Amino acid sequence: MGELMGSHKKDKRKKSKHKARKRSQDAGGDACEVTKDRVRAHFLDGNTGPWAKDLAAQDARTARSAQSEKNTDLAEDAASSAKAGTATIASTRRGPDYSVPSSIDIVADPVLHALSTRRSISKVDPETPNDSDLLEIIRSISSVADHKALRSWRFLIIRGDDRYRLGEALDEAAGVVRKPGETNTKPLRAELLLALVSSPVKHDKVPEWEQHATAAGAGHLLELALWQAGWGVMWRSGTLTNTESVRRLHRLDDHELLMGWFYIGAVPERYRQRLTTSTRPLPKPEQFLDTL
Ligand SMILES: Cc1cc2nc3c(=O)[nH]c(=O)nc-3n(C[C@H](O)[C@H](O)[C@H](O)COP(=O)(O)O)c2cc1C
Repeated sequence: MGELMGSHKKDKRKKSKHKARKRSQDAGGDACEVTKDRVRAHFLDGNTGPWAKDLAAQDARTARSAQSEKNTDLAEDAASSAKAGTATIASTRRGPDYSVPSSIDIVADPVLHALSTRRSISKVDPETPNDSDLLEIIRSISSVADHKALRSWRFLIIRGDDRYRLGEALDEAAGVVRKPGETNTKPLRAELLLALVSSPVKHDKVPEWEQHATAAGAGHLLELALWQAGWGVMWRSGTLTNTESVRRLHRLDDHELLMGWFYIGAVPERYRQRLTTSTRPLPKPEQFLDTL
């Protein structure tokens, strides 16, 4: 049985490899197209490391040569805009240098691959990680960059009836009065919510904003860790997040900040299907990188 399943998996992988190669050939070997194909196949296989490495080894050259062509174009563009530039800023701002191709492969590396394929899942299925799973997830993200290791963040687990209590607190904050038996269904969109609390401490070297940044970092890592572990998640907040009744429910101290809720559950089959045909590209990375 195990062997059968193993050979079936291999077959599937062969097929998706073939499809990815075929599509990349059809697309003229464009690096973005190759990455997109692999992203879809990754989701189908529910598998990262060895599979992705294998695939990457096959067409890394295609991706690199496309990348290096792009780099040449970018370098030419940069050179011509530098020539045309007359403002003082243009004479001091050099811009990044992309003339040397990168040796980093965001498909072959399982961590980078998980980072680049992450997506929010707005409607999750009822199955959820248990509290021990959550503890492992938290263990993995506790490596978040944290100035002076102040550990000024925590998550609160909200399941079952506690979700109704959250609905009531949100209603109270919004001044909504419902008929008996009616409830605010917003917190019911998932069986499990994790509330993120940023809890800055007084420190002469670490301002409050840095501690909020660490808490936000923990939130992003949580999304990634859940994604990599096979769970769907969406981070939600809203204008009522730090209102008095909502803060009271979460037992926040005055100096603390509620950073929103992570709605967690299983990734529905229809989502998996949709992701296989999705064409959502990653944003262009050049917009996030500059020099002084
Ligand atoms: C702090 C924070 C709060 C957010 N609050 C909401 C929200 O209340 N409602 C919403 O639709 N999306 C919210 N988002 C955005 C979604 O979580 C998600 O990132 C967005 O829909 C884009 O999808 P993607 O993560 O797949 O790129 C929030 C994101 C962050 C980081």
